Amino acid sequence: MPKTLNVAMIGSKFMGRAHSNAWMKAGKFFDLPAEPVMHTIAARNKKELEKFANRWGWQRATDDWHQAVENPEIDLVDIVTPNHVHAEEAILALESGRHVACEKPLANNLKNARAMADAAKRARKCKTFVWYNYRRCPAVALAHQLVKQGKLGRIYQIRGAYLQDWAGPDTPLMWRFQGDVAGSGALGDLCAHTIDAARFITGDEVKEVTGAALETVIKQRNVLDTSGGEISGRGAKTKSKKGRSTVDDIVLFIAKMKSGALATFEATRLSTGYKNENRLEIHGEKGAIRFAFERMNELDWYDATLPENVQGWSTINVTNGNADHPWAGAWWPVAHVLGYEHSFVNMAADITLAVNGKKPIVPLPDFNDAYQTQRVLEAVMQSAKNGGAVKMSEVK
Ligand SMILES: NC(=O)c1ccc[n+]([C@@H]2O[C@H](COP(=O)([O-])OP(=O)(O)OC[C@H]3O[C@@H](n4cnc5c(N)ncnc54)[C@H](O)[C@@H]3O)[C@@H](O)[C@H]2O)c1
Repeated sequence: MPKTLNVAMIGSKFMGRAHSNAWMKAGKFFDLPAEPVMHTIAARNKKELEKFANRWGWQRATDDWHQAVENPEIDLVDIVTPNHVHAEEAILALESGRHVACEKPLANNLKNARAMADAAKRARKCKTFVWYNYRRCPAVALAHQLVKQGKLGRIYQIRGAYLQDWAGPDTPLMWRFQGDVAGSGALGDLCAHTIDAARFITGDEVKEVTGAALETVIKQRNVLDTSGGEISGRGAKTKSKKGRSTVDDIVLFIAKMKSGALATFEATRLSTGYKNENRLEIHGEKGAIRFAFERMNELDWYDATLPENVQGWSTINVTNGNADHPWAGAWWPVAHVLGYEHSFVNMAADITLAVNGKKPIVPLPDFNDAYQTQRVLEAVMQSAKNGGAVKMSEVK
């Protein structure tokens, strides 16, 4: 009988759809050592649950996530709930002997993130993963490979910017604006992805956050009408009452990297005109790379080792399976482009490989890795609050 990977997923909205699609497709497009099985979906809204399960092909549905996590048939628990419940769900899953794949950021605060990383260390037989899915864009993975091959030489400078514009004054006070639930705003929601991608591509770590600013530009938002039982969702019903947003809409920070490179990061939910521009530029002595998610199939590369008269940015369409572009061989002919959802399918495939002792296409972030990104988030918050530099060695 073929080997299986029984998955239980907690949560059923935005990421619930992205991950359901990923678990459904991974075994179809990739040759995997085990077939992912969509065993159980757990979510709070009983009314919507059956419909969701039927639509996506989950075999069982429950409104009690404990039941799903503790079921000995489950091999892996996939967490796609808001940040403040990641720790409780992940720790119980690890203590129950399950592998865990958790959405990012790892947690709503450093204390919970540390508890999760510690629980992962204790659960020696269990593997952990964090869905920093932009690593699974072929262009980002190729950038990682190029840097590893020394094509950029010594890295001088990193420039990251994650730009969205959906959080104007009409956007209601969903969980993403509640500090106790989300932990932070644009910082943990968006910038965390860029920090992870920068760490992943360069292999470098932040040594010090030298300065940071966090700004809540829109301080009051319409309170959601939760009488239907749901607290999230854009376009949801609101009450006439206003409530306070307790997270940043915009974050800017400067960091010194261990290698000596200097980095600037920016993330915003208010950059009118940009929808999902996760942008990263890395400059080194031998060349540079440039990636922007709205053109996710392309990686720009500048080769400064070429004769000066032919130097210039080249644009690589990173979809060529014959050229060994990461994951491309599992998908379509060259330039039959990939989209957002493919990063999740690629990740589900890599998780299945890793759980079965095989090497993923490029390294996956585990809880300890995501904890390092969470430490950077914490340092940025401390720096913004206290107005000075924060050394990473002081953030534990
Ligand atoms: N990797 C990415 O690109 C990406 C994109 C968006 C969100 N995320 C992350 O995914 C997670 C979920 O975000 P989302 O956009 O799917 O949110 P969402 O609001 O669309 O869905 C959240 C789900 O969790 C459930 N839920 C809400 N509050 C809960 C609680 N207190 N306890 C248990 N369940 C609860 C909701 O019923 C819903 O099913 C977050 O950690 C978020 O940061 C990652």
